[in-house]
Amino acid sequence: MTTEDLLDPKVVSSAAEGPLAPLVSVEDYTRMYEASVQDPHRFWAKEGKRIDWITPFTKVKNTSFEPGNIDIRWFEDGTLNVSANCIDRHLEARGDQTAIIWEPDSPEDPALHITYRNLHRSVCRMANVLKGLGVGKGDRVVIYLPMIPEAAYAMLACARIGAIHSIVFAGFSPDALGARINGCDAKVVITADYAPRGGRKTPLKSNTDTALLHCKDDVQCLVVKRTGGQTTWTDRDHDYNALSADASVDCSPEEMSAEDPLFILYTSGSTGQPKGVVHTSGGYLVYAAMTHEVTFDYRDGDVFWCTADVGWVTGHSYIVYGPLANGATTIMFEGVPTYPDAGRFWQVCAKHKVNQFYTAPTAIRALMGAGKEWVEKHDLSDLRLLGSVGEPINPEAWNWYNEVVGKGKCPIVDTFWQTETGGHMLTPLPSTKLKPGAAQQPFFGVRPVVLEPTSGEVIEGNGVEGVLCMGDSWPGQMRTVWGDHARFEKTYFSDYKGYYFSGDGCRRDEDGDYWITGRVDDVINVSGHRMGTAEVESALVAHAKVAESAVVGYPHDVKGQGIYAYVTLMNGEEPSDALRKELETWVRTEIGPIAKPDLIQWAPGLPKTRSGKIMRRILRKIAEDDFGSLGDTSTLADPSVVDDLIENRMNRG
Ligand code: PRX
Repeated sequence: MTTEDLLDPKVVSSAAEGPLAPLVSVEDYTRMYEASVQDPHRFWAKEGKRIDWITPFTKVKNTSFEPGNIDIRWFEDGTLNVSANCIDRHLEARGDQTAIIWEPDSPEDPALHITYRNLHRSVCRMANVLKGLGVGKGDRVVIYLPMIPEAAYAMLACARIGAIHSIVFAGFSPDALGARINGCDAKVVITADYAPRGGRKTPLKSNTDTALLHCKDDVQCLVVKRTGGQTTWTDRDHDYNALSADASVDCSPEEMSAEDPLFILYTSGSTGQPKGVVHTSGGYLVYAAMTHEVTFDYRDGDVFWCTADVGWVTGHSYIVYGPLANGATTIMFEGVPTYPDAGRFWQVCAKHKVNQFYTAPTAIRALMGAGKEWVEKHDLSDLRLLGSVGEPINPEAWNWYNEVVGKGKCPIVDTFWQTETGGHMLTPLPSTKLKPGAAQQPFFGVRPVVLEPTSGEVIEGNGVEGVLCMGDSWPGQMRTVWGDHARFEKTYFSDYKGYYFSGDGCRRDEDGDYWITGRVDDVINVSGHRMGTAEVESALVAHAKVAESAVVGYPHDVKGQGIYAYVTLMNGEEPSDALRKELETWVRTEIGPIAKPDLIQWAPGLPKTRSGKIMRRILRKIAEDDFGSLGDTSTLADPSVVDDLIENRMNRG
């Protein structure tokens, strides 16, 4: 392949060279990467053509990281429709090809194979139902659904009529859902009666009813039947199954500008309030499609499985938008890795002859603990590539993934990226000489820089460590925080002027390969899910018996990081196991099960400076059971609190 070929979109799909010849060789990568950063306009002008435009773009890149003028536009004068790109344009050649394989929670229930033609019909029906409820271009729709096909229909139906979706993970509580409905002023929330998962059922409709108590009266609720279980019905509810049965199977796609928002996705930061990350249509789709094809070496006819939930960005980009834009067959799995047993992932891989499998280290660690016999029961001979995402993968888990799952023949792509980045930022490609635990190299067009954390100076050369920033924009970059552009600038562009700041630390080794060293802010990563410690703290202090709290992460064998909460009770309140349980349940109810503290330590006082600032560094050390090197504690107002915390620490070896 020449550089020219490589820059030519879709060459890959039609020119499969056999499963073991990687799409992009090491030499091609180097050449193509250079081209992408030296002349991004030319590079992306060509890549932009991998999707269909109604009005072709003439402008490619118009981006500024200038303080006071953060402005990101890609393909700005082009128009398109994302759902037409994911469905309609494939109908002629792939109408009868399976677009989505839906695998339900229980292996006893049959899987569904949804062709591109049927996907088109279902999405049009959903689009017409939404229109019937008065949803139009620019309106917001919150999606709170299990991992069922209707979740994908809802996303694509919004894209079809120009509405902006905001998915709320079905594991979030009514309070979190309500805040997100209000945050984007949604017109409709789409939910289901229940969400079956791992043999249990979450009452989504009743959660939605509770959430809506705190929302405007005119928010409507569209209810999908999943289990047929009993629900209460109110005036604002609409029965999706009844409405869609009568809806037309035609709905012409709305012409959207490249920079019209496609979706909002709330994510945690270092403040208590989650941010509404906004992604737009053209650049996001080009980037999701290209990364899906190139990173995963996706070839025509492959079956691709990303085990994420559509409630997270991974599900947006690599279950729905990237794969479908490429005309792929993508799996949507409703269940969990360990139900009904620890062989479920591998049984699904064998059943659907999965070629690329993409999951999180936390799942790998949990399954590793269950033993390799669960893997060996199943025929994984179709697997060609493995992917990892969401948190650093430890070498032990990497080796197990490589040897037991991949039988030593599948490259592992360790993809580093974020809700904010829309798609992969640093990742090996299948041809890369792999280093377990390293995200290694930038994707095309991505310009990583390592900065000295305090001075903000660029650190050149190899064998260095600092904070990870990006020196220039890429098409999948978020455009703003919903309703708060100033917060966008403050969060990502104010600490290091002229750069996008990822919030992660990194090391560039002697060979120039990148290793993510973890967050440098107050964000922790629990089972690959991002959690702001401030969010858990504000939930805890909202409890009547809690005076103060500080939350930090600590190493956890399966989850990567666990949640460690120091809690100071109100005067007169007595610590007890019952109260500990009560607080755990409280946080589950306020935020959701993923935020439940793993360890709660009763703290008579918290270590504070004389100006009242909590010294989290010390709290982290104690939580890590590494209090021998607490560093300088001389600035503490009352150093004796530290002795008490050490003596009563919860995590002992
Ligand atoms: O700390 C990094 C970690 O996950 C954060 C982003 O979380 P979120 O927006 O929820 O997106 C997760 C899925 C894209 C990052 O700031 N992270 C993500 N991938 C990796 C990672 N850390 C190390 N290695 C990775 N491959």
